[in-house]
Amino acid sequence: MTAPATHHVAVRDTRLAVHTSGSGLPLLMLHGFPLDHGMWARQEPLAEHLRLIVPDQRGFGGSAGPGPKSMEQLADDAVALLDALHVTEPAVVCGLSMGGYVAQHVAARHPDRVAALVLVDTRLEADTPDVRAGRVDLAAKVGRIGQRIVAEAMVPRLLATSAEARGAPDRVAIEAELQRTIEAQPVATIQAALAALGDRPDMTDAMRRLRAPALLVVGAEDALTPPACMEKAEQLIPDARLLVVPRAGHMTPLEAPGVFNAAVLEFLRAAVAGRT
Ligand code: MLT
Repeated sequence: MTAPATHHVAVRDTRLAVHTSGSGLPLLMLHGFPLDHGMWARQEPLAEHLRLIVPDQRGFGGSAGPGPKSMEQLADDAVALLDALHVTEPAVVCGLSMGGYVAQHVAARHPDRVAALVLVDTRLEADTPDVRAGRVDLAAKVGRIGQRIVAEAMVPRLLATSAEARGAPDRVAIEAELQRTIEAQPVATIQAALAALGDRPDMTDAMRRLRAPALLVVGAEDALTPPACMEKAEQLIPDARLLVVPRAGHMTPLEAPGVFNAAVLEFLRAAVAGRT
């Protein structure tokens, strides 16, 4: 397997870093908040079957700022990135949490570009007033204290907390990796993204009308978007199947990469026949 190639691509009013590998059916992978492409490193084996397109969304990782204004803007960036990479055929759009919100907007705004959706540890609903107020508070704190405060608030909640999950051999390495990644994101990007996340609309009706097949994946121990969120989504998305992954929290692709990668391939073999 060859290492992914990194490109810097002019996309609309910014410049995105994107990591590509493999060939075949395109799989666009959209990271969560406040992370970057690195959270998908354990999905690299999928490049044996698929064309992986793994960007840093605007303001994050190696991509230029400013940070996002809205989920709609990130969705339009994603499609403009596919254009810039000459991906004209419908792609599989996969997103975790914030990336899942963006993936839903890609499907709603650009349905012809989506062969299938993979929604991971995410939800369809908008924020409650309490969650929105928490984001305003965190944005103020990150301005005063720096990224460390976000890492401290989030890392313990991102991963599964059962004794079995905490004892996993790569647990300490994953925690350190998440901590490093969060602390590397610019404060202004974190603040912009918090505002954009708080403003995002409810996508329930849009997802009721989803034409593409969807795979929904959630960690059984996800504390941020618990399994009930994806169970509800399974009820209303017309062609959806749900996988609840044991011993995984909010970062299922990192915490259970073997289960996650196999589920994606099995889903695509069934749902996008003949393409993997
Ligand atoms: C994420 O993982 O992307 C965030 O938890 C999303 C959110 O805060 O809603």
